[in-house]
Amino acid sequence: MSPLLPNDPLPLLTQRVRIVRGSIFDLPRHAYDAATMFFCAESITSCPSEFESALAAFVATVRPGGIIAAAFLAGSSGYAVSGRRYPAVKLDAEQIEEALKSRLATTAVTPIGISAKEVRSGYTGAIFVSGKTPA
Ligand SMILES: C[S@@+](CC[C@H](N)C(=O)[O-])C[C@H]1O[C@@H](n2cnc3c(N)ncnc32)[C@H](O)[C@@H]1O
Repeated sequence: MSPLLPNDPLPLLTQRVRIVRGSIFDLPRHAYDAATMFFCAESITSCPSEFESALAAFVATVRPGGIIAAAFLAGSSGYAVSGRRYPAVKLDAEQIEEALKSRLATTAVTPIGISAKEVRSGYTGAIFVSGKTPA
């Protein structure tokens, strides 16, 4: 049986993927069957309402009955890269589920490697979320 993914997926990705620079706040509404987001909505601001707006824009870009998958930093109050500080909204799995529950018909929340102290600069683990938007 041939594998679902080639050993090196890069050539295929290069053919099929179009990279467009933009802001999460400008995503088109109901444009995609599925969307993924990794460490974005909670890692671009320290303002909870801005996090909520980014999350809303991400979920709204999926069509009704579509699928989202996303990962969030857990317990982060910001992080440092090459000596420069970047912001984050400090969240746990319950807060992420609460922020998503009115926007999704189904939600699965999986904490990954949550520790009592920081595992890298600015976070104590990650939270993976998948779900379906209401049809
Ligand atoms: C913590 S990094 C995560 C990067 C990458 N997704 C990853 O997992 O390695 C947050 C990213 O959000 C980007 N960002 C900042 N403001 C944004 C916005 N308004 N819309 C979309 N992305 C934004 C930053 O440039 C940065 O690359």
